[in-house]
Amino acid sequence: MGRKKVTIVGSGNVGATTAHWIAAKELADVVLLDVIEGVPQGKGLDLLEAMPIEKRDCSIIGTNEYADTKDSDVVVITAGIARKPGMSRDDLLNTNFKIMSDVVSKVVAQSPNTILVIVSNPLDAMAQTAFKQAGLPRERVIGMAGVLDSARFRTFIADELKVSVENVTAFVLGGHGDTMVPLSRYSTVAGIPITELIPADRLKELETRTANGGAEIVKHLKTGSAYYAPSAAATEMVEAILKDKKKILPCAAYLQGEYGISGLYVGVPCKLGAKGLEQIIEIKLTADEQAALNRSADAVKELCSVIGMA
Ligand code: 2OP
Repeated sequence: MGRKKVTIVGSGNVGATTAHWIAAKELADVVLLDVIEGVPQGKGLDLLEAMPIEKRDCSIIGTNEYADTKDSDVVVITAGIARKPGMSRDDLLNTNFKIMSDVVSKVVAQSPNTILVIVSNPLDAMAQTAFKQAGLPRERVIGMAGVLDSARFRTFIADELKVSVENVTAFVLGGHGDTMVPLSRYSTVAGIPITELIPADRLKELETRTANGGAEIVKHLKTGSAYYAPSAAATEMVEAILKDKKKILPCAAYLQGEYGISGLYVGVPCKLGAKGLEQIIEIKLTADEQAALNRSADAVKELCSVIGMA
């Protein structure tokens, strides 16, 4: 058995940084693919040349050819245009729909047994697009958003309480957009619910900052959007799959009645392992939380309708 193979489609900041994390953790051989000539080759070679220093044995190649992606265990799709200031994730919809449809058909032709981790925005609608166009079971098409949104929430909670980020677990459910649902009730510090540690009004502020976390970075960067945390989040999902960790992570999954929602990608707690999405964990929500999740699902559905993917 050789090493695992992970293809990353899109060699922009998110794609290239995902390659970086995967290689740094020596998780798999990496194929970095892009339509732009030279960029994946250059970044791939540059990263490969860091391996002796980092003491990691990974092959890393950059390419414009889908043939090089053949038999990938996991394919992370980051391709698409990114947000600029003033743009919402939804503004990317039509352009990224075309890109996603094209990429997915080419990826699956080379790797029919692969697991897709979708990262392009607007995330839930792009995961829905990938699922519908790929013809793969829902277990093998998973969207990255909850891990990122939860990581932002965890960052703010740790900073607020001046505790280690390692002590903080948090859950953010729903779509990856303004309607996302940070679930404070299920967020803890060393097992203690944060609702016991942070006053409700302050907690509300942290939740709001989390929901606007992507825009906060775009505002700083001006010419692009976040990539360190998004790529680290995608890498955590890839690692859970490659190592069959059975890790519970919030991910966008195709719901078939779970949480009262059907036929739609929405962020929920998922168990990730070698088969991809191995279980959707259904937790009991309060009426308010369920209403917020429904609102978020409605927003995702509206987007999917625009591109004929609802
Ligand atoms: C983010 O949340 C751009 O959706 C990405 O940073």
